[in-house]
Amino acid sequence: SELTSVAIEDSHIFKNEEEVRLHHINLKSLEVIVLKNIDIHSFYRVPELNFIKNMMKPVRRTSMINTKVFAIPCQSTIHFTNLEVLDISDNTIADRTLMEMMCYGKEDVLLNLRTLNISKNSLSSINSKLFTRLEKLENLDMSRNSFDSMPSTCSWPASLKFLNLSSTSLPEVTSCLPQSLQILDLSRNKLTVFNIELPLLKELYISGNKLGNLPDGHLYVSLAVLSIQDNNLAKFSSKNLHDYQSLRVLEAAGNPYVCSCDFVGFVTNDLMNHKTVVRHDLKSYICDSPDAV
Ligand SMILES: *[C@@H]1O[C@H](CO)[C@@H](O)[C@H](O)[C@H]1NC(C)=O
Ligand SMILES: *[C@@H]1O[C@H](CO)[C@@H](O)[C@H](O)[C@H]1NC(C)=O
Repeated sequence: SELTSVAIEDSHIFKNEEEVRLHHINLKSLEVIVLKNIDIHSFYRVPELNFIKNMMKPVRRTSMINTKVFAIPCQSTIHFTNLEVLDISDNTIADRTLMEMMCYGKEDVLLNLRTLNISKNSLSSINSKLFTRLEKLENLDMSRNSFDSMPSTCSWPASLKFLNLSSTSLPEVTSCLPQSLQILDLSRNKLTVFNIELPLLKELYISGNKLGNLPDGHLYVSLAVLSIQDNNLAKFSSKNLHDYQSLRVLEAAGNPYVCSCDFVGFVTNDLMNHKTVVRHDLKSYICDSPDAV
């Protein structure tokens, strides 16, 4: 019968006998391949197996999660013509091997890709040029790599809407961040300022940084959700909130608030009647100073 989906989890595979077994299945209609938590011996051979080329043509979704993948060569990716979702999270892909997988951004590969997940790999730089030609790419998850810095400019595809850069050790952001973004996750980095204008941004997750102020709401006219807990905010005001035209939900607990009479009054009265809903139990908003409160 025709197989449309294959999932192999928690096993040892791709020794020779498995290769042969897969080779004999009718794979012409295969649309989804999931490999997860697999201990693959001699891994480098897997993506180069000849059968995978024919197998990959119709495939629309592939996940290879925690399979110790460290390289998918250009010769393989050029066959992934219909792939829409590629999840290679939790592996050991590095800058060089990502370049190789994307054919150095020079060839028309993975042109149907909408979602790419390279979370939790060994990347150390943000190389947007590898993705410029992916005109359908909407979601890019690069969280849990270690970037340390961001280039000053980038060339992302205009289609990019979701970018996850959480837990990537970034000390600052630049106008590398694309204007097309609707959802941006920068949680758990080392940011002290966030001031890049993103007019289409609807959701910003920026908790676990060192921001001393709420970002300027005028820069985020579409923002509906702001998650900024566990930063260095000492206070914010009604005006700060009003500057966000579209804000509906604010999560701002876990900050070292200075509880001046004004601020306490604002939080306990005005905020309750504000158009923005404050999420989290108010008890988790704690005065850091003065000591008396
Ligand atoms: C990417 O993979 C990680 C880890 O496997 C997962 O937690 C995350 O939700 C995935 N992201 C997307 C956008 O699918
Ligand atoms: C971003 O990635 C982190 C870690 O992989 C995950 O926990 C988080 O939910 C993702 N953010 C969004 C908005 O999906």
